[in-house]
Amino acid sequence: MCGIIGYVGFRDSKEVLLNGLEKIQYRGYDSMGLLIVTKQGFKRVRSVGDIRQLRKKVADAGGNSGSWGLGHSRWATHGPPVEANAHPHKAEHIYIVHNGIIENAEELKAWLKGPFLSETDSEVVAHCILDSYKKNSSLKEAVFDTISKIKGEYAIAVMSEKDPNELIAFKKGPSLVIGLGEKEIFLSSDAQVFLPYTNRVIFLKDGEMAHIQNRETLYFYSDKKQKIDKPITLLDSYFTETEKKGYPYYMLKEIYEQPDCIANLIETHVNKKACKVEVGINNEKDFLDQIVQKGRCNIVACGSSYYAALYGKYAIEKGSRISIGVDMASEFRYRSPVLSSRTPLLLISQSGETADTLAVMRMAQELSLPVLSLCNVAHSSLDRGASAQLYMSAGMEKGVASTKAFTSTLFILFLLSIVLGRKKGSLSLSEEQKIIPSLLLFPDQMKEVLSREKECVAAAHLLRALKSFIYLGRDIYYPLALEGALKMKELTYIHAAAYPAGEMKHGPLALVDADTAIVGLAPKSHVSKKTFSNLEEARSRGGKMIVVGTRGDKESVSLSDCFLSIPSCNTYLSSILCVLPLQLIAYHTACSLGHNVDQPRNLAKSVTVE
Ligand code: M6R
Repeated sequence: MCGIIGYVGFRDSKEVLLNGLEKIQYRGYDSMGLLIVTKQGFKRVRSVGDIRQLRKKVADAGGNSGSWGLGHSRWATHGPPVEANAHPHKAEHIYIVHNGIIENAEELKAWLKGPFLSETDSEVVAHCILDSYKKNSSLKEAVFDTISKIKGEYAIAVMSEKDPNELIAFKKGPSLVIGLGEKEIFLSSDAQVFLPYTNRVIFLKDGEMAHIQNRETLYFYSDKKQKIDKPITLLDSYFTETEKKGYPYYMLKEIYEQPDCIANLIETHVNKKACKVEVGINNEKDFLDQIVQKGRCNIVACGSSYYAALYGKYAIEKGSRISIGVDMASEFRYRSPVLSSRTPLLLISQSGETADTLAVMRMAQELSLPVLSLCNVAHSSLDRGASAQLYMSAGMEKGVASTKAFTSTLFILFLLSIVLGRKKGSLSLSEEQKIIPSLLLFPDQMKEVLSREKECVAAAHLLRALKSFIYLGRDIYYPLALEGALKMKELTYIHAAAYPAGEMKHGPLALVDADTAIVGLAPKSHVSKKTFSNLEEARSRGGKMIVVGTRGDKESVSLSDCFLSIPSCNTYLSSILCVLPLQLIAYHTACSLGHNVDQPRNLAKSVTVE
């Protein structure tokens, strides 16, 4: 979950690295550090906190600049976020930055002499390289020797005071990209860091090493230590720079971008003339036909992307009668799932870098299963590794709490349910044509819901004083209840859980008292009456009722302490509309508690360790 960057060139590396760290801090923001190679020697600055604290510390340290260096943004795995645990770590003349986990760190620690000055697994790598260097006197050989000893998944970049004109990077697991400029070379976990300077990039594969010898010379090696040629990729599509555009937080900006994201997806995937949904898939264009032929597809993802997958299951199974298996990637990879041959797999990930989801991709590759990725970040590891690709196309999402990528995913899954329904023969063309007008109207309905933000501010006022939250929904609203609860807990740090409304009597009802918020998702639908009964049962036990319902619906209004209204529409679309007030109540409750909603404590945007 950490971010690595490196620079070799002619610019002031301090500025390049600090600007790069600012972009990559979505990977971890509990501590940061950099190493600059100056004429006077190596200079390391580390600090607790995000880029603002590091900038201040670098400015206070003053002086020396140089045109080589390394940088790191940390999300703590081993040891708390204190300066001693921040990267770069050093062992005598060896400096390293590391992303990932060294699984045999304790064994290596017992074998190496130290002294160890941090609690991290990363520092062990520096000592291991030092030990090998003493025997080999070559940084490259020392790194090769070290990677034969360390276990786990990791990306590292290494420098030595004895070889100040060398920078070595190695990857096994987490992403690592090289950027080639004019007489300058960049290195990063994410290409966006150097896109202001160059779009010519080389993606390292697992087991590969990059050896930079000066700003114009670098070599690549395979895991067999053989020199290899690597193809250069020109990044034509990547996110352009994003600003807050006057919003106090990226998250709020991203909430308000949702109608445009959906309008953009409609432009791409809906043929308005023919009144038909046409979802374009890259590479294996017949992927959806493969799903229909098999009559089955597994969808695997983590976090909000998993909840979106659950929505996909409900929508696709109902719309097309195709059986959909849904799993969390962290479970799927270890639970020995029964995978019949050639059953298509859909992997969903905003970042395309989530470690567990990538592990599932590798499992699928070993079994030669067709893999369709649904990513927001083009050129991410998942996007490059999948056999077919689809995109959320939501633009860069900076807030750690996913919003626009989530709703874009739901919308695409709804579109997929329509296409699969048609291909399977469960949805007639005339039925599809009836749905299209509601799709076209949808961005305006989203805008309308957002225009009622004040209702959510009022709800947040009530919610901030409560001790726990229970989100309830039935059928297609249940995955949205899960998402609402996740938004609330990750932003407010107050416990929130979601249940299918019909499950309350089987245990969770015991939790309800006057300090409990019950957030019910009950727009008019085939299940709303049933949900009302369950909400009534919770209200009778003293719960404070927040109900998201159809505008003008008397029953939901009378049930609520706070009523959050959405316009009437198709059930699959109304469930997507429900998430907008849920995002806003989580956002406003967190703001009123004084939390930084873009960088919630203990979290990172991209989860690159398992
Ligand atoms: O990049 P991914 O979609 O693979 O990320 C999955 C989760 O880490 C992510 O959705 C996480 O749950 C968000 N913080 C939710 O807001």
